[in-house]
Amino acid sequence: MQAEYRQRREKFMEKLGQGTAVLRSAPHAVMHNDVEYNFRQDSDFYYLTGFNEPSAVAVLAPHHDEHRYVLFVRPKDPLKETWSGLRVGVEAAKTEYEADEVYSIDELDEKLPQYLEQSDRIYYRLGRDRAFDTTLLRHWQRCLATYPKKGVGPIALEDIGPTLHSLRQVKSEAEIGWMREAAKISVNAHNRAMAFAKPGRFEYEVQAELEHEFRLHGALGPAYPSIVASGTNACILHYVENNCQIQENDLLLIDAGCSCDYYNADITRTFPVSGRFTDEQRALYSIVLEAQLRAIAQAKPGVPYNQCHDTAVRVIVEGLMDLGLLQGDVEEIIKEEKYKPFYMHRTGHWLGLDVHDVGVYQHGEAPHLLEPGHVFTVEPGIYISPTIQVAEGQPEVDERWRGIGIRIEDDVLITSDGHDVLTDGVPKTIEELEAR
Ligand code: GLY
Ligand code: MN
Ligand code: MN
Repeated sequence: MQAEYRQRREKFMEKLGQGTAVLRSAPHAVMHNDVEYNFRQDSDFYYLTGFNEPSAVAVLAPHHDEHRYVLFVRPKDPLKETWSGLRVGVEAAKTEYEADEVYSIDELDEKLPQYLEQSDRIYYRLGRDRAFDTTLLRHWQRCLATYPKKGVGPIALEDIGPTLHSLRQVKSEAEIGWMREAAKISVNAHNRAMAFAKPGRFEYEVQAELEHEFRLHGALGPAYPSIVASGTNACILHYVENNCQIQENDLLLIDAGCSCDYYNADITRTFPVSGRFTDEQRALYSIVLEAQLRAIAQAKPGVPYNQCHDTAVRVIVEGLMDLGLLQGDVEEIIKEEKYKPFYMHRTGHWLGLDVHDVGVYQHGEAPHLLEPGHVFTVEPGIYISPTIQVAEGQPEVDERWRGIGIRIEDDVLITSDGHDVLTDGVPKTIEELEAR
């Protein structure tokens, strides 16, 4: 496993030139005054180190004579470990995490300068940990103060994002393996929830089924707060209360996925709890499904990322026009975004160590082209809230359409010659959902 992190660091360091990268671990958040939340490492930090503790700093200095990779970690402390769990400690961090040098985090002020002084810039992400920002800026200012005497030192602070995130955007074989595992468990959880859901059950009971399946198979837990939205609740994109009783003719929208070793799945299905779509539900569902299938069909190397979204939008607009829910000229409706009261979000996002993963979608005017190793969601929807406000010049929505919310979401990996839908084990055709 360390080989994977080593390869990532080598690739990253190739891009640093004479720069030094400094990464800070995630803070350990507390609730109830002093009860600690489960720790979740910062994704950038984890990507390069695999080290899973708070109060740590990683330094990558490819130009340094001896120490290209340095960790600062919490020292062993038997009393504190009794309360909050074992620490790797300085000695073991060196062997287990393959750092060239490891120091106690208490030595940061003394030891960090030697890794900055010979560099020409510092790669760092400001704004994630204000206290540590101050520490780093203080070190940088010291370097700037001595620059006139020495003529060397970091004269720029560069955001680490573009350099690091272009690597994170293309998944390795090992990463794809974890994503497949997260997808597999999430697929099983959706199937379990679908079998369990029926009128009279509460949304939170369905949530419990999903999350039981996640933990039972070793996932860390939900990748994001599970959405179990019946009836009109499905028109709220990030509905998380999950406290309503499911009614006879409801659609149930479930948007849930788990994390496996920090890699995530993100799946949505919408189905009729009583086993049969109403005419209106069926008409809208057919549009969303076609939009999703046509968008996924675009996914292959060399295609602009936005083509999936553009395809889905066109199918949705044409479908809503056929139903009389939008009227006018297709091109104008798309250009002026008059469909947005029905479909207000993008068709997907990168997926990886973060659910909304890092990486660019566009390069100014130039499109970002899909390449093997990209993983993203394809998740079109139609939401007709009971209080929908249509765009100017568009017809009022008849009562019978109101309160229907539908989204279908799968996770798609770009392969060398096309794509692989990682989450296609959950049924989504009308026939399958009605035969459930
Ligand atoms: N579940 C969050 C999303 O689909 O983006
Ligand atoms: Mn989702
Ligand atoms: Mn998503």
